[in-house]
Amino acid sequence: MQKLYDHLCRYSAADWIRTVDTLAVNIDPIDREATRIWFAFYPLPLQLALDAAADKPATERKFGLMGQWGLANTIDSSHRFVYAHRYWPEVKAAIAAIEQAPSELGALITQVADAACRPARVERAVVLGMAAIGLMTLRQVGPQAFAAAPGKVHLSDALRAKSREQILKTRAKDDWQGLFGALRGAKKLWTVRFDENEPDAEFIAIQSQDLASAAQSDKREYRSKDARCIPNEGPIPVECRAASCGTCWVGVIGGAEKLSPVEKHEATRMKVFGYAELSEGTRPVIRLACQAKAYGAVSIVIPPWNGIISRV
Ligand code: FES
Repeated sequence: MQKLYDHLCRYSAADWIRTVDTLAVNIDPIDREATRIWFAFYPLPLQLALDAAADKPATERKFGLMGQWGLANTIDSSHRFVYAHRYWPEVKAAIAAIEQAPSELGALITQVADAACRPARVERAVVLGMAAIGLMTLRQVGPQAFAAAPGKVHLSDALRAKSREQILKTRAKDDWQGLFGALRGAKKLWTVRFDENEPDAEFIAIQSQDLASAAQSDKREYRSKDARCIPNEGPIPVECRAASCGTCWVGVIGGAEKLSPVEKHEATRMKVFGYAELSEGTRPVIRLACQAKAYGAVSIVIPPWNGIISRV
């Protein structure tokens, strides 16, 4: 695998983003946004900067990093929010079996997807995003760590039993507002799912309430899972609630169109934090939870870290 790793090191971060953007149209719709979100959560420039740092703790402070960043400890689980995570063993085996890599990155990703889709018994489109994620994981963690990871699937039985169609239907569905729902106006209530893997990982947002404030209504204990969480203030880590700190960034895996459009202040701050690449447009897949207001049910993913990666 060393040879393949050396080959992957030829590609810049821009090459990866460009290639994933080009391939996106061929990725099954269920994972099109999830793949882009994963690439935003695990940026190659950050990993390269940390690898090259003479004083790693000082560099981490410089980037304002909080939480758990990097892939070293999550090789098998960082992508559990991606539908094709269930085919991770097949994708990982396909990567390990590559002897001769084509010179073009897109062709390499496609080759891995072709090799994985046969044993997984799915179409190439279903594992294409996962193939890109698997290769980027190898690029960031190196061949030894990649080979040593057991290649386990981290899915709940409930989610594993669901088909693509069922998951997409759940994401698209809005809460029933009762017989006179149209008259409820500002009292409409919307479900915000923050981990599709866990049946009870959801909280309720009142119409036009921002996601970070809505999360505060969830009084369960989250700090033991993510030390950034404030006790009794829900599963989304927050600090300023005013788009100043970047702590509350989230990926929107379903229902981005049901959130308020990005306004100038959020857009400007996203650029400052360095989350801008995937935050362009009025309803992008990366948002600040303290700025995104709910006008329907949405499904989000909470990244395990935050920082100011524009400093990279
Ligand atoms: S909580 Fe600080 S940017 Fe949202």
